[in-house]
Amino acid sequence: MLRGGSIPYLEGVLEYIDSASTAFHTPGHKQGKGAYAPLSLLLGERCFQADVGDEVGGMEDADVLLDRAEELAARLYGVDRTYFLINGTTSALQAMLMGAFSPGDELLISRNMHLAAAAGLILAGLEPVFIPEKWCPHLGLPLGWDMHHWQKAGEEHPKAKGAFLVYPTYQGFCPDLAPLIDAVKAQGKLVLVDEAHGPHLALSSSLPPSACELGAHLVAHSAHKILGALTQSSFLHVQGKSPDRLSRAVELLLSTSPSPLLLASLDGARAQMEEGEKLWDKALNLARKAQERIQELPGLSICGPDYVKAGLIPRCDPTKLVVCVQELGYTGWEAASLLKKYGIQVEMADWWTVLFLLTYADGPAEVDALVAGLEKLTATPPPDGGKAAARLLGEEIRPPAIPPRSLSPREAFFRPRVKVPLDQALGRTAAEIIAPYPPGSPIIIPGEVFTEEILDYLRLLKGCQVKVRGVDDPSLAEVAVVA
Ligand SMILES: Cc1ncc(COP(=O)(O)O)c(C=O)c1O
Repeated sequence: MLRGGSIPYLEGVLEYIDSASTAFHTPGHKQGKGAYAPLSLLLGERCFQADVGDEVGGMEDADVLLDRAEELAARLYGVDRTYFLINGTTSALQAMLMGAFSPGDELLISRNMHLAAAAGLILAGLEPVFIPEKWCPHLGLPLGWDMHHWQKAGEEHPKAKGAFLVYPTYQGFCPDLAPLIDAVKAQGKLVLVDEAHGPHLALSSSLPPSACELGAHLVAHSAHKILGALTQSSFLHVQGKSPDRLSRAVELLLSTSPSPLLLASLDGARAQMEEGEKLWDKALNLARKAQERIQELPGLSICGPDYVKAGLIPRCDPTKLVVCVQELGYTGWEAASLLKKYGIQVEMADWWTVLFLLTYADGPAEVDALVAGLEKLTATPPPDGGKAAARLLGEEIRPPAIPPRSLSPREAFFRPRVKVPLDQALGRTAAEIIAPYPPGSPIIIPGEVFTEEILDYLRLLKGCQVKVRGVDDPSLAEVAVVA
């Protein structure tokens, strides 16, 4: 009997597959009998057999098994409650904001928020007070936030109901979180943390601390980004008394037919991470070796540890290798596309850096491949004689100051809108989120007013062919503004 074991939900799905009767219920593929052949080839028979709704004709006691699986996850992370979410950290952030605050509430929020959080501000009808992002002056790389900005904003906005922040950054940079959490909690306010890129932090004593260990009230984890869960699968953790509406907000944003594949993957990923310390020690050793070897290559440097040494950031996650290619005469985007030709797919690229993610799943062979790819890169002259990099060297890459606001994000989003050419947007109020992706931090959100600085930055981005999300026109020829 599998039920009630150490992977309750996953075992429930396995048991269902073995016990399935003739199905007269959804889904229409009927355990794969009607699956489209190429899709079956892609996913395999078991995948369809496990694709069972938990409401109609599905797994027995699915809710009980899910509760048990969530309890085990809460135990692993040392929190009071964990939700399994199948619409990523996107829905976790939105549920947090809708569950913890009320329309019109002021909220201190770090500007390095993901666009999913900006969408949460719209859904929840909040009045954001933004905490500016810190930047590396040479590379235009986002470094997170500084405590003194939170203190200042807290003093200027005493009615703010809480703080929402991103930790660690996409690049694994870790601002000093403990004093911020302590200060916000001392005022009896809520601390919400988007720890999308840090579900492993709580699992190893050698990694920077997790917001869960530091006592944040609500913490979101993209289990699919760093752990072994399937894409779209995330955790939302709660510590202390849960905000009254949180469960309802989670339910509001959740499909009534959550995929058992995704839920089982969260249960499995959690069970695997019961050995997290060992698995992440292995990843950290690998990362250290990779770092040493990459730093020996001519023209390459690794930003995280250098920034810690220079006092720009307090800590970094060594499993995120942020490699600077500026000295080679490459932009980050050019380096990424050449590396792809050498069989290396980066996690992200930007102006001057490429980001490589190492996890417990990697081994020495992957590090050898990475170093070999980078070696080839260092031996290849940049495209077009390095013209793109030379042009960028003349620019100060510093995202624009947070613009003034004329409407709340929600009001602006729901007002009638018109499209105007980018060059005519000066002084107009944005009706859409504009976020270069990745990392997906908005340059402007609905309700904010286009400044000359914002327009200049967007023109610079356009020239670099950066992908932009949140917009009607990804080419940025036109932008949506409030009519
Ligand atoms: C900081 C941050 N928060 C939230 C998200 C959204 O997470 P998900 O893809 O799990 O919905 C992302 C995605 O990249 C992210 O980088």
